[in-house]
Amino acid sequence: MDQINYDELSFDDEDELKFPRDEVQDFDRVVERAISRRGFLGGVLAFGSGAAVMGTGLLNGTSAMAQQASRFAFDQLAPQTDGTVHVPAGYTWDVLVRWGDALFSDAPAFDPATGIPTEGSDRVFGENTDGMELFHKGGTELLVVNSEYVNGGINLPAEQEGQPASADDVIRLQNFQGVTVMEVTEGDDGWQVVVDSPYNRRIHHRTPMAIDGPAAGHDLLKTAADPTGTQSLGTFNNCGSGRTPWGTYLTCEENFNGYFGTTAELSLDEVHANGFERYGVSTEVDPGRYNYHGFDARFDLSQNPNEPHRAGYVVEIDPWNTDATPVKHTALGRFKHENAAYALAPDGRVVVYMGDDERGEYMYKWVSRDVYVPGGDTSTLLSEGQLHVAKFNDDGTGIWLALTPEDTGMSEAEIAIFTRMAGTAVSATTMDRPEWIAVNPTAIEGYCCLTNNSRRGATDDTGAIRTNAAGEPMTVNAPNPREVNNYGQIVRWRPHGDDHAASTFDWDLYVMAGNPSVHTEGPYAGTANINAGNMFNSPDGMMFDTTGMMWIQTDGDDDNEGDFAGMGNNQMLVGDPVTGEIRRFLTGPKGSEVTGLTWSADKRSMFVGIQHPGGSFPDGEGSLPRSAIVVVKRDDGALVG
Ligand code: FEO
Ligand code: CA
Ligand code: CA
Ligand code: CA
Repeated sequence: MDQINYDELSFDDEDELKFPRDEVQDFDRVVERAISRRGFLGGVLAFGSGAAVMGTGLLNGTSAMAQQASRFAFDQLAPQTDGTVHVPAGYTWDVLVRWGDALFSDAPAFDPATGIPTEGSDRVFGENTDGMELFHKGGTELLVVNSEYVNGGINLPAEQEGQPASADDVIRLQNFQGVTVMEVTEGDDGWQVVVDSPYNRRIHHRTPMAIDGPAAGHDLLKTAADPTGTQSLGTFNNCGSGRTPWGTYLTCEENFNGYFGTTAELSLDEVHANGFERYGVSTEVDPGRYNYHGFDARFDLSQNPNEPHRAGYVVEIDPWNTDATPVKHTALGRFKHENAAYALAPDGRVVVYMGDDERGEYMYKWVSRDVYVPGGDTSTLLSEGQLHVAKFNDDGTGIWLALTPEDTGMSEAEIAIFTRMAGTAVSATTMDRPEWIAVNPTAIEGYCCLTNNSRRGATDDTGAIRTNAAGEPMTVNAPNPREVNNYGQIVRWRPHGDDHAASTFDWDLYVMAGNPSVHTEGPYAGTANINAGNMFNSPDGMMFDTTGMMWIQTDGDDDNEGDFAGMGNNQMLVGDPVTGEIRRFLTGPKGSEVTGLTWSADKRSMFVGIQHPGGSFPDGEGSLPRSAIVVVKRDDGALVG
């Protein structure tokens, strides 16, 4: 493989790196093939024209569009291509915090040329902000934020080309990632981080974690440093977020595989070899992106082959107790977790929806064994329950298949550790990279961003359909109907019986993104709720506000050319689930992804994450680009969510 400039690569693109796109993509030819396919594709497109299809009665969204009064409080923002943030008329934005800003008064100052030294690098706000949630109690507001990954090239001396040259370098990189808990407050000068708040905390790649659930104590989780298999260090590649009704934070370990490597040739048993292959853990002697394994034996597979089995989970954090040990909940499965969206079943059981963000992987749902009782003991609610994987039928129905020992031929612990293999065993539906899932608080329904999949339906040199990591052909299917899907779509489901714990559901596509200016007809034009004014690609982050409006964030191609012409920089849009209408609300600086959204306790401020900006955002000419959280408010002080 040629030299890779990791600083130009989002960690979300890890799979693209491992499985490069075809060198020649004849986009028009692929469109032709897709259009000529009748059947379910015709049905999906009928959604865009307002026809009710698939017999579910769900697909009448756009016909309602013309009849309903608009619920949008703003005029659509035009696409932008510059190096800063834009919001609609009547709104303003301001920077709350940037990577490297102090959480404690003894933190080292950020050097605009070189960043932060290792000493004190765990006393500042982490890099590459992602999922976040705000918690409030008695007038105190805590913002809890993921730091997904780190740019070696701007954190280490330039001559090292992004690679650590010492154990000290590794610690610096480890300290900038993980999770930040910080108190925030609004004063006359706007929102500020409360430096030295007793709640401020950094959780990074060496923070002690407890492991619970069916895999805890299993041989595959035991290491020399932890012969019990119940205690690990660090949480990794913290992507999307979630929260529980009892006020804890959920951080989701996504591309954890990228932190491990080996310093010596390996001879692996079948279980480890298969596990590393399915999860994309490199077994080559190569420094990889981070080269942790060159200086920290914990990440060296030749010494600790079980360490990767201790990452890839949903981790629960109590934001109010800086002494509380975060808990890795193996019951919720091990995969490239995007986020964790909870719902409560009518009987009080907790339901958690989750996506596995890799091409051709699956969507999951977990249902707790016990019920949530407000004020009751919640310490083990996420420890025991039943994991399911989604199967979508072409007729607009679907089923959550239970991942049981009987149906998978795997033990409970094996299902928790090798969840992807369990999903394959029951023939789950391969998806176009499931990113965030969001649950509508005003209707019994869920949504998942299927961000893109350049290999869907594409063929290799031999003419065979390209496969996912399990070797399953990624043939087009009903919820993923486009070959070479560079735009993405959002799938919606409504559980039967208005019960999120139900095993069956109806589904439709809320939107297929597209470019109706470049592709005037056919599937790459997108559904009818996409027009020249609101085009975007690669939906990723997604959250509902309290009014039931859906906020959509993008992590896509922002070159504004060719198939992406007219879309501009990555952005945040708002969708009305009832009418299907979508409007652009915010644009990020060139090069950035917009990811992470939460609201202040009074809902008059929203916090929006700007990850991996290009140029010199937000400090201006000559400074390092810094990921940042911005605050957006209405000029009239009205609610924003
Ligand atoms: Fe880190 Fe799939 O987003
Ligand atoms: Ca990202
Ligand atoms: Ca994401
Ligand atoms: Ca993404």
